[in-house]
Amino acid sequence: MRRNKLVAGNWKMQGRQAGNTALVGSLLAHAAEWSGVEMWVAPPLPYLQQVGALLSGSTVSLLAQNVSHEDDGACTGEVSAGMLADCGCMAVIVGHSERRSRYGETDAQVAEKFVRAQAVGLVPVLCVGETLAERDAGQTEGVVLRQLEAVLQRAGVKSFANAVLAYEPVWAIGTGHSATPAQAQAVHVVLREHVAVVDPVTAAALRVLYGGSVKASNAAELFAMPDIDGALVGGASLDANEFAAIARAARAAQ
Ligand code: PGA
Repeated sequence: MRRNKLVAGNWKMQGRQAGNTALVGSLLAHAAEWSGVEMWVAPPLPYLQQVGALLSGSTVSLLAQNVSHEDDGACTGEVSAGMLADCGCMAVIVGHSERRSRYGETDAQVAEKFVRAQAVGLVPVLCVGETLAERDAGQTEGVVLRQLEAVLQRAGVKSFANAVLAYEPVWAIGTGHSATPAQAQAVHVVLREHVAVVDPVTAAALRVLYGGSVKASNAAELFAMPDIDGALVGGASLDANEFAAIARAARAAQ
């Protein structure tokens, strides 16, 4: 089954208004180069509307980096799924490893975020991935399937028809050391097959992104893998030329 490639940029906690304008301007100058590839960018929360306005009329969609696991109400400092949708987001990252490890997000909370996002029409991008210690202990499969299963149990397999999965090995994020294409492909197959056991149709259509030190120099070999359907890009998404080159690699691999 042919799955349209998706390249998503996660700016993390970086950016200011002037820099955002310059970055989006430089990126959109390359727009003709990624036709047919879906492109999303995730600025920090305070800049969603600024970046949304800059992207208006372009082929790049607005992604949020996080969402509350709770609904609107007395939750100081939180941002609800409904607010993100109201601000023009079409998708949201849930369960990024930085959220899980630094802010203590549990599998159950991540599952709740996933459900809240879908309830207002946002596409959740569910991140899963193992630490180096877990990989070295032979636990990669167990960890990523535990993280996936928490959401499958809560939201049901059909919900993955409107979701994206991202395999992000923690040891590859921000380190400059990407997983090899073969390492990533092996985990992507494990994830897809786990979904396929209960729903082969949903599994075949499900996009599984790879994330962790994706850059222009390694994107093509990653995208050549049959189960790698695009990338979640951190550091390299802050450089318009680098991010556009990743998008070109995705287009070439379509
Ligand atoms: P990186 O981040 O590309 O900087 O490794 C990826 C991510 O955290 O999604």
